[in-house]
Amino acid sequence: MTNRNLIADILRLKSEKKALILAHNYQLPEIHAVADIIGDSLELAQAARKANEPILVLCGVRFMAETAHILNPDKKVLMPDPDAGCPLADFLTPEIIRKAKEQYPEAAVVVYINSTAACKAVADSVCTSGNAVRVVRSFPHKQIIFGPDTNLASYVQSVLPEKEIIPIPDGGHCYVHMRFDPEDLREVKAAGIAVMAHPECPVEIRVLADYIASTGRMAEIARTRSSWYICTERGMLDRLSELCPDQSFIGREDAICADMKKTTLHELVRCLRDLSGEVTVPSEVMEGARRSLEYMINVP
Ligand code: 13P
Ligand code: SF4
Repeated sequence: MTNRNLIADILRLKSEKKALILAHNYQLPEIHAVADIIGDSLELAQAARKANEPILVLCGVRFMAETAHILNPDKKVLMPDPDAGCPLADFLTPEIIRKAKEQYPEAAVVVYINSTAACKAVADSVCTSGNAVRVVRSFPHKQIIFGPDTNLASYVQSVLPEKEIIPIPDGGHCYVHMRFDPEDLREVKAAGIAVMAHPECPVEIRVLADYIASTGRMAEIARTRSSWYICTERGMLDRLSELCPDQSFIGREDAICADMKKTTLHELVRCLRDLSGEVTVPSEVMEGARRSLEYMINVP
């Protein structure tokens, strides 16, 4: 079947089943073509929370679908490939958080949205790359236990020197954002190209960037310059080109998140046709995870 036929099937099934399709910015352009909402982790969580459709199809990775289910539990949340996970999220466990709390009893706990529901349930708040600084600042505590991304933790620390950020576990990182080379950034900057980097990038990259931003914020900033070097997952180059077709976006072609690319038109047709790939979270973590997510959503 051609992409055109698959897209026609998806649009028909979507309307028949009254489904809302939410897609992360890193998804393939053909998935964006059928999506109702495209955004970063925070924008997807907010859209899922207020959705009225009975079926939410999350084209992204598992923590995004879990978040949609937690924030809007009366809906059926489906993933075209429920095996699409996030290796960064796998760095953290509730046990690691428990041990850190024992060691730092005065600290508040903030977990990145790229974490399991069980970790969210034992945290004081969740944060995303778009609101991590605001969430951490909202706590009166000086010490903040923060996981699992040590790069995002060090970014927040650099913006909020008055806080003591305690990163957990040692070495938590996203392999995709480790691909960038400071030498490449120096070269493009010398050629007059502006650089945007995701806060999951290591400090050697962040210090050379003109802007550090979530993928949603990148989409807003992109209009301000004509050519950009983008330090995040390769799919963002396609997304920015969709939004700003007359501008130039380059980056590393090998910065690919294998899990984000598991969602295809074929899988999406099957998911909508069979209503397969339902994502739920264990009932014992629902309440705690919702409390942590709602804290984040309500931070001004
Ligand atoms: P954003 O929330 O900025 O889209 O980041 C999600 C993510 O997984 C980055 O790798
Ligand atoms: Fe996780 Fe990195 Fe993929 Fe984002 S790009 S979903 S952080 S593995």
